Amino acid sequence: MARPQAAGFTASPLQLQLINCCIIMLSLLIQSAETINCSEPTSDALLTALKKNIFDKTEIRPVINLRTPTNISLAFTLYGILDVDEKAQKLKTYLWLNLLWDIEGLSWDPVECGTDTISIPRKQLWRPDIVINEFIDENKVPDTYYLYIKNTGKVMDDFPMHVISSCNLDIYTFPFDIQNCSFTFNSYQHTILDVQLSIARPVVKSLEYSLGVMKTKGEWELVEMLAQKHAIPPQEMNISRDRLTYYIVLRRRATLYVVNLLIPSCFLITVDLFSFLLPPQNVDRSSFKMTLILGYTVFLLLMNDLLPVTGNTLPLINAFFSLCLALMVASLLETILIINIQCGSSDYGPLPRWAKVLFLNYLAKLVFLSKKPSDQNWDPEEHRTETKRCDPVVDTPQSEAVHNTTPTHQELRKISHELLSIRQQIDKHFKTDESADEWVHLGQVIDRLLFGMYIVFLSVSFITMFVIWQYWYNKQASLI
Ligand SMILES: *[C@@H]1O[C@H](CO)[C@@H](O)[C@H](O)[C@H]1NC(C)=O
Ligand SMILES: *[C@@H]1O[C@H](CO)[C@@H](O)[C@H](O)[C@H]1NC(C)=O
Repeated sequence: MARPQAAGFTASPLQLQLINCCIIMLSLLIQSAETINCSEPTSDALLTALKKNIFDKTEIRPVINLRTPTNISLAFTLYGILDVDEKAQKLKTYLWLNLLWDIEGLSWDPVECGTDTISIPRKQLWRPDIVINEFIDENKVPDTYYLYIKNTGKVMDDFPMHVISSCNLDIYTFPFDIQNCSFTFNSYQHTILDVQLSIARPVVKSLEYSLGVMKTKGEWELVEMLAQKHAIPPQEMNISRDRLTYYIVLRRRATLYVVNLLIPSCFLITVDLFSFLLPPQNVDRSSFKMTLILGYTVFLLLMNDLLPVTGNTLPLINAFFSLCLALMVASLLETILIINIQCGSSDYGPLPRWAKVLFLNYLAKLVFLSKKPSDQNWDPEEHRTETKRCDPVVDTPQSEAVHNTTPTHQELRKISHELLSIRQQIDKHFKTDESADEWVHLGQVIDRLLFGMYIVFLSVSFITMFVIWQYWYNKQASLI
């Protein structure tokens, strides 16, 4: 059958003219039975002729021999990305679909019939039952009624589709995620022996065209489009449908999430970090940190709407938030510990020797908090030596006074006793003061030490997190 297969719609008008000429020549030569004849060059005559020849054959594939497969060329334009629902794993898109196929043997002479293209109601013709496998909800689009037939027998059927399709959405790297969703087209009923699919125009063109017409400039950005035909083994020919899969790759615009989620979190953690500079003795620091935790909880509660939820994977950002909260709680606990050490020290008695050696000597040097000799630490020492030196001064008259027991002496002795007991009291007081001082010093050392560890842990965990993000993002982006 001499039918010009090359007559695609990308051909220029000149080429079309040439092809039409060829067809006229060929049809004149061969005069196949399916060529329709118009009585006059008007649409009425053409319609009458079409009605007689093809309109009554909607039930059957337009082929002469049913062993011949019908080849459907398919192209689509992504007009809009309406919604990506991570929880339901659904993608809502608006597509324009173009289907092209041939009515085998149909042709007419454009000169004789007055036109080379005519639009006719869709329901007058056989149409392929092409479906999208991922379709999971009803198609809500305005009804369209017409399709075009060319004088070569080619049928062009264009229609819109509101596709709610299932898509495996992986939100591990949210908000820096890239999604790869597929549209698998196949005939619902016809096997590959009857209906075959092919790609109507290069996918790069489809991508360009889609980017040109796309109206929604929302959260998602179309970055790539791929098409793939599935090979079907010969032994499964009589049961398999011919499938054609289009992949669309979408990238999330992350700015909103960075501004609304990540930056505030980082700010709050920074405030928490700097609150270590507040003196821990005052209850200020702990209440400050408590307020921070409260604030962060409220922040998370408010921002919960922005976070995607799915059952299968926990996004990295949730781990990030948990980490921030855990760090804040840990720093509050640390403050409570320090306050306990410093304020409750009077009940603890003197600091154990090992603790003195370990904390006040070694660790204090490590965190640059060793006491300078001129500090108040030495003051009680001086006091004691002074008082110690004073002891014999008080004692000497006492020993001499044993022999004289005049009332004046007795009075003096009484006063001396009283003075001694006062001195002992003061001595004791200085001693506890010294141990309290040691506890305070211990608290400072531990505080500084844990602060250092906090900084190290914070940096390491943040860097790890961002490296993981970067790694996954690069891995996804490298596939594009
Ligand atoms: C169209 O006309 C040709 C001769 O001009 C004839 O052979 C052919 O059978 C006609 N076709 C139809 C469908 O009547
Ligand atoms: C999308 O998925 C298909 C099939 O798994 C794969 O061939 C393609 O490379 C993927 N594209 C991207 C960008 O991940």
